[in-house]
Amino acid sequence: MVVENLVNDVKEVVTRWKDKEGNLIMILHDIQDRYGYVPREAALEVSRQSDSPLARIYEVLTFYNYFKLQPPGRFNISVCLGTACYLKGAPALIDEIRHLLHVEEGATTKDGIFHLQIVRCLGCCGLAPVITVDEKVYSAVKRADVAGIIAEHSKAVSKN
Ligand code: FES
Repeated sequence: MVVENLVNDVKEVVTRWKDKEGNLIMILHDIQDRYGYVPREAALEVSRQSDSPLARIYEVLTFYNYFKLQPPGRFNISVCLGTACYLKGAPALIDEIRHLLHVEEGATTKDGIFHLQIVRCLGCCGLAPVITVDEKVYSAVKRADVAGIIAEHSKAVSKN
């Protein structure tokens, strides 16, 4: 990310929202729309340009699940940890993903391909346990299925 662009991007966003009440959240929304997440450099720049303490900015960023502090992966893996999925073995699926991809919840793999997030009930409990990769839904997933799901998407990347 070119820092000069970032400074200008933040300036544009801060200028757009500066006279609006409760503007900090709108500024952070705009930043995330641009970059797909809120980079630390952008948070620092927002702090400088809007006179908001950095601690206040991180308070907002960490309060709302919506905000991402890590760059998004090429694919977003969501594992449901709602009650039905939990009882049908979702914790083992999370373990397997962590093990295979060396990634923690809320983080993106070093190669930038997968981002792992844990969600609460995807609204299709009858299919538990459920994993989604972007829009694609995998139902009644077993630990042994996880490697195949990951491989399917890794292959898609290597073909491009
Ligand atoms: S608990 Fe997983 S879909 Fe509802």
